[in-house]
Amino acid sequence: MPSIQRIGLFTSGGDAPGMNACIRAVVRTGLYHNLRVAGIMRGYEGMIQGEIEELEAKSVANIIQRGGTVLKTARSEEFMTREGRQKAYEQLKKAGIDALVAIGGDGTFTGAAVFQSEFDIPVIGIPGTIDNDLYGTDFTIGYDTAINTVVDAVDKVRDTAESHDRLFFVEVMGRDSGLIALRSGIGVGAEAILLPEVDTDLEKMYERLETGRKSKSSKIIIVAEGDNEGGAFPIAQKVKERFPQYDTKVAVLGHIQRGGKPTCSDRVLASRLGFAAVEALIEGKAGVMAGIVNHEIVFTPFEMAIKHIKELDPEWVRMVGILSS
Ligand code: F6P
Repeated sequence: MPSIQRIGLFTSGGDAPGMNACIRAVVRTGLYHNLRVAGIMRGYEGMIQGEIEELEAKSVANIIQRGGTVLKTARSEEFMTREGRQKAYEQLKKAGIDALVAIGGDGTFTGAAVFQSEFDIPVIGIPGTIDNDLYGTDFTIGYDTAINTVVDAVDKVRDTAESHDRLFFVEVMGRDSGLIALRSGIGVGAEAILLPEVDTDLEKMYERLETGRKSKSSKIIIVAEGDNEGGAFPIAQKVKERFPQYDTKVAVLGHIQRGGKPTCSDRVLASRLGFAAVEALIEGKAGVMAGIVNHEIVFTPFEMAIKHIKELDPEWVRMVGILSS
């Protein structure tokens, strides 16, 4: 079993609320086991540039409640090249780093899997992305905070929609996943939820709008940004042409879904995963992502976490069709 002396810790890809709670857990657990922990700034880009600094217990004091990531994050084109990864490896060796903890999403673990196949540095991944689109974990760090941000924002939209008898298309993030849209759409009682995983049937939506016109003065339709119709604006444009009598508006929530104080759920999830990742490294695990499935910690090989699609539960989709009618 490799005797690890110094863990390199970094955040990568889109930031997510709760990443700081995870950073804190990794540092505190590593120090407890008499390991040193180095913070690598700005993800793979900072690794290549050697932006590395020692993390102590006090480095992570009072950050559990903060959104964003104190280690910053960045996307790195250079790390996609063998030369870039070689430079990163040399920086790690120079810094005496002999293991990595990567907090990020599918792009992060794609890079980690390649890096680990080329160099003798074990890597454990922790799912940190608001999209919740990683296989091998029921939840990713940031998802719970993001859907609560959406619910809070849409409740505000509902107030004004109700006052003006308006129809609102609200676009949410999630890249190719509809999980933010699905759970937040249920939470706000949306009249419809448009998902990348379910081909949008505009005719069916028109029928709902036609029949529903009298029953409710305001309507909220949640649109996942990856929806096959191209997002809220093109769909709203078609509805305006078809139903000029509707006062139709669009709200794109954008990056507010990425910020804010992490919820307690995200802080607890982040703490559990950070703690488990360090102890897994010590036990000799590598090339896996830590996750939570049915409340238990599990480890999934990077290749599976990245390649397997996290399906939507058809029972949830069926329920939405009934509750939103
Ligand atoms: O992956 C998280 C995410 O917020 C996606 O939901 C979104 O499509 C993407 O990042 C936006 O990326 P950027 O912050 O680089 O614009």
